[in-house]
Amino acid sequence: SPSGVLVVGSITADVTAFADRLPRAGETVLGNDFTLVLGGKGANQAVASARFGTPTWMIGCVGDDPFAELTSGGLREHGVDTDLLRTVDGPTGVAHIRVDSSGQNDIVITPLANARLDDAQVDSGLAAVRNDVSVLLLQLEIRASVTAHAAAAGARAGLTVVLDPAPAVPVPDDIWPHVDIVTPNETEASILTGVEVTDESSAARAGQWFLDRGVRHAVITLGDAGALLVSAGERPRLFPPFPVQALDTTAAGDAFTGTLGAALAAGVELADAVRHGMAAGALAVTRAGASPSLPARDEVLALAASTVVA
Ligand code: RIB
Ligand code: NA
Repeated sequence: SPSGVLVVGSITADVTAFADRLPRAGETVLGNDFTLVLGGKGANQAVASARFGTPTWMIGCVGDDPFAELTSGGLREHGVDTDLLRTVDGPTGVAHIRVDSSGQNDIVITPLANARLDDAQVDSGLAAVRNDVSVLLLQLEIRASVTAHAAAAGARAGLTVVLDPAPAVPVPDDIWPHVDIVTPNETEASILTGVEVTDESSAARAGQWFLDRGVRHAVITLGDAGALLVSAGERPRLFPPFPVQALDTTAAGDAFTGTLGAALAAGVELADAVRHGMAAGALAVTRAGASPSLPARDEVLALAASTVVA
């Protein structure tokens, strides 16, 4: 039976500056480190999935510049199948990231090649791997209409469709019935639902907003308060966090969703897949950067096994 993951989404070069604090508007500060690595929420999900040991394919676009080799080579090094990538004219996507000493970041993402991913590439890629995958992972750094098209096509093909609605840009309303699992953080849940998520009960209300629109499960990640699973006809279930020392939160959400999807494709049931995802997210915040911070399978399993769920 199919046991792989297909990711449709963004690929970027992450150009990151580290400083004690972030500059205010118009201000210049001195940084203390710099990295240039593979990132993009789609690519990060794919790397998280492959590092969990699940066969993983990615549909996306890179440009015809030096960042194309940095990014597609990075995907391959981490074990992601890149046969379904397309090279387009012009620059590869770029994310400008700044990280302060508390691990907080801000990001300007410029899609560039990612904006060229279209419905036809999704359709041909999906047809090529339809018999090899059971889970489709989506995010919102490509054109929203293409993400919506992928969700519908994935649902039609019988895949479990998982959407991390990040960043929280407007999405077509008709996407929701095609989404099996949505994985926003507090900020994204607040923006998308209009419910200000500050605690467990507001997270439950935000989760219900997604269910009312046809989503089957909402997992709202609550940072150091854990995560809340909201499923139709069941009481919301709070998963306690794995306490870690945050160094750089970049890609924590991607680690969560990528690992969740990889675990589901491997046959893990949803609650345990959520715990695996949370463990991966926790490990990712202890390390700098996007793709380099994504944990290996053994680390995820060890941390996931370390705490008993209430
Ligand atoms: O989620 C983290 C990612 O978001 C980074 O890798 C960066 O590319 C931004 O798009
Ligand atoms: Na990180």
